[in-house]
Amino acid sequence: MKPINRREFLRTLGYGAASFAGAHLLSACNTFLPQTSPRPFEGEPDVEIRLTAKPGQVPIFPGAPTNVWRYEAVVQMGPAESIQTIPGSYLGPIFNLKTGTNLRVHFANELPEESVVHWHGLHVPDHADGHPRLAIPGSETYTYNFTVMDRAGTYWYHPHPHGITGPQVHRGLAGLFLIHDDQERALGLPDGDRDLPMVIQDRVFDAENQLVYDPSVMGMYGDRILVNGTPDYELDVDRGAYRLRLLNGSNARIYKLAWEDGTPLQVIGTEGGLLEAPIEKKVITLAPAQRLELWVDFGRWNAGETVSMVNLPSSAVGGDEGFPIFTAKVRESEREDARLLEVFPRHDALELGDAVNANEPRVFVLGMGMGMRWMINGRTFEMTDVARDERVRLGDAEVWEFVNQGMGGGMMGGMNQAHPMHIHGLQFKVLGRQVDPRGAQVYDSLKDGFVDAGWHDTVLVTPGERVRLLMRFTDFEGLYMYHCHNLEHEDMGMMRNYRVA
Ligand code: C2O
Ligand code: CU
Ligand code: CU
Repeated sequence: MKPINRREFLRTLGYGAASFAGAHLLSACNTFLPQTSPRPFEGEPDVEIRLTAKPGQVPIFPGAPTNVWRYEAVVQMGPAESIQTIPGSYLGPIFNLKTGTNLRVHFANELPEESVVHWHGLHVPDHADGHPRLAIPGSETYTYNFTVMDRAGTYWYHPHPHGITGPQVHRGLAGLFLIHDDQERALGLPDGDRDLPMVIQDRVFDAENQLVYDPSVMGMYGDRILVNGTPDYELDVDRGAYRLRLLNGSNARIYKLAWEDGTPLQVIGTEGGLLEAPIEKKVITLAPAQRLELWVDFGRWNAGETVSMVNLPSSAVGGDEGFPIFTAKVRESEREDARLLEVFPRHDALELGDAVNANEPRVFVLGMGMGMRWMINGRTFEMTDVARDERVRLGDAEVWEFVNQGMGGGMMGGMNQAHPMHIHGLQFKVLGRQVDPRGAQVYDSLKDGFVDAGWHDTVLVTPGERVRLLMRFTDFEGLYMYHCHNLEHEDMGMMRNYRVA
């Protein structure tokens, strides 16, 4: 396919404001903002945690243990259940907090290099956002103070130092951050041991069971799938309802997930919490950093049966083959009466009409420049650099548009890769997508799995595609980031700052 330049690309798409003002896109007006109740957090926290990053060893395979880097946590004040460790896993402890909690975390870096913790998906002040400029060297401590303001949902945390996020996450540094609120509690969703985190990652191990980090320009892809840090993950389930919280914690791999027997998936939540209504899908696409929550009635399978969640082949890089992700074994038990509510509570409105630039969005073009560098609008990451078109006003709602040039991406147009684009500090709505029908293989192979409803902090932009997002910058001024969450793309510079003022 011949590369096309940007102007031709725009023409090919017949692109203009009008094409986005279509009825189904305007129906996205019916959207709701996460609840926030900003309050300055001074004085004593409700929960105080010491979080340490340090080298360690875990048994992953028979034989030699694997050298990893991992987070460990100690609750210094507040309920002990504020953290929950996953036994035997390199993954960090799971934070379990309620909306409104004033949280203090003392991050102790006991690694042989600099690091910093980013609370992915959380709406926090910029000094607590884990920007790489705030990275601390080994043997230092950084204290985070923030109020947990987000809705109930599945968030996570991971390192964010400049240029070495990919290798640090690959060595094991990542953990879930679960938020609960009263609205969620009132829904009576499965909880306790029926509420299961499922962190999906891929890794390469050598013959001595050690991790091998050897990425290409496409990112780091592994040949072993781990769930919660365990290969060939199995789970014993009763014949009742479960809540599965899926996080794609992989550096680069995009998954196309389904039950092996074709049973539909009931999606109840996205990155920013519960949907307004469950959505039934045959397949779900899960890009790096994305979360989807499923409600599953294992009673639909017979006692003694097993059912696997599988990755289906796709045109995404590294997604060419099918393979199992995990297997559920249904225990000998009576089928329980399991029913899912049809409608979940709604939240404060954010309407397209609120956006100051609804007709002329901020456009960010994703591509590859000279020297095989992934770029955004022709720029790569500079620690504190903020361009004119990266300044936004506190309180404004805006439409942002990410454009993946794909084959049109210039000299390296052959790099036909999808980019999971992530914006720090907020949750956004996906208003719509447009794709260049030529060269849309990746889009075609993944689109059935997209869950664009609900609130998101990461959206997949496939080659030849333009995706429009609606967001509002609330509560905090300061320096935040937006970037590709393929961690190798991020480390190679596909990341920029935006400033709220
Ligand atoms: Cu999870 Cu800036 O990333
Ligand atoms: Cu983030
Ligand atoms: Cu990318």
